[in-house]
Amino acid sequence: MSNQTTHHITLIPGDGIGPEVTSAARKVIAAAGVVIDWEIVDAGAGAIDKFDTTLPEETLNSIRKNKVALKGPLTTPIGTGFRSVNVELRKTLDLYSNVRPVRSAMGISVHHQPINMVIFRENTEDLYAGLEQDIAPGVAQSLKIITEKASLRIARAAFGWAEKNNRKLVHAVHKANIMKKSDGLFLDCCRRVAAEFPKITYKEIIVDNCAMQMVMRPYQFDVVVLGNLYGDIISDLAAGLVGGLGVVPGANIGDEYAVFESVHGSAPDIAGKGIANPMATILSANMMLRHLGESKAADRIQAAIVLFLSEKQFLTPDLGGTATTDEMVEGIINKIKLLR
Ligand code: NAI
Repeated sequence: MSNQTTHHITLIPGDGIGPEVTSAARKVIAAAGVVIDWEIVDAGAGAIDKFDTTLPEETLNSIRKNKVALKGPLTTPIGTGFRSVNVELRKTLDLYSNVRPVRSAMGISVHHQPINMVIFRENTEDLYAGLEQDIAPGVAQSLKIITEKASLRIARAAFGWAEKNNRKLVHAVHKANIMKKSDGLFLDCCRRVAAEFPKITYKEIIVDNCAMQMVMRPYQFDVVVLGNLYGDIISDLAAGLVGGLGVVPGANIGDEYAVFESVHGSAPDIAGKGIANPMATILSANMMLRHLGESKAADRIQAAIVLFLSEKQFLTPDLGGTATTDEMVEGIINKIKLLR
């Protein structure tokens, strides 16, 4: 134990169910024997009183220093109020790749054939640029920004990951039949990157057809690369195929920093009830462990989760059970101990 690495990681507990699920992930990591010195920082509505901003400089500096963060979800007011802190964080730290693995082995799939796709969502532009205005009474405008730089790098992230992980197929998702300029540029960039990876099959699919195909034949998808808005919607759809938002992890990766967080939001409808499914955040933390080079511990946690799910006991209500968050965490930790 004495020469074990201590990792210094920033933790944003988040809003709603965030503190419950991030605390669950910390317990699981500790049970797997990884030592982390957590630097706990504020963001979102909870930071306003103390720092007069939703994204304090101290929070950004903590991530800049530690390079890696685990993050709970942050609430964004609908229609009015402050802009999304999640979007701000991704843009400020240039976390351009949002990576979301969707696997039926990890959840309770509604399909019989195994689903094992990895979604690469562009994370810094598109309609999330926040360029909106009222241009006349009763007329609002929102600008969709697509750049060559961002499209090339998300495509390279997707193809590069596919090659490294021995995946065979990348789908680019678009609506370039209608948005010939913006989605046309995205598609052109994907085609150029595809030409750099001749061993990987490249396919294109229009986003509406993609939604239908994903519901009917999701197992045809391997690696999927999309712009920001399509990526947001399609990854929630994909989550629904493997057990819901409670089981799908995610990572926001840039060239310098990485922030790990589940696909789900702050789930205000169940916050504070002790019934949130912690699996998505535990799996996000597990992606973080691999990023940190702790692959042995990550393999053990993954095996423990597979074993835990196979018994279909101590599941939270979203997975059809009656267990609390704590009971589920205890169940997973018991499996980790078994696999020691
Ligand atoms: P949501 O993901 O919070 O909830 C959607 C539904 O899924 C709810 O019924 C919720 O109870 C359920 N759910 C989500 N996570 C769950 C879990 N771990 N266990 C069990 N059930 C779970 O999405 P919603 O309601 O659209 O957004 C709520 C807030 O979260 C909004 O303010 C939104 O802006 C924010 N949000 C933040 C994200 C982030 O911080 N990365 C991502 C998505 C939404």
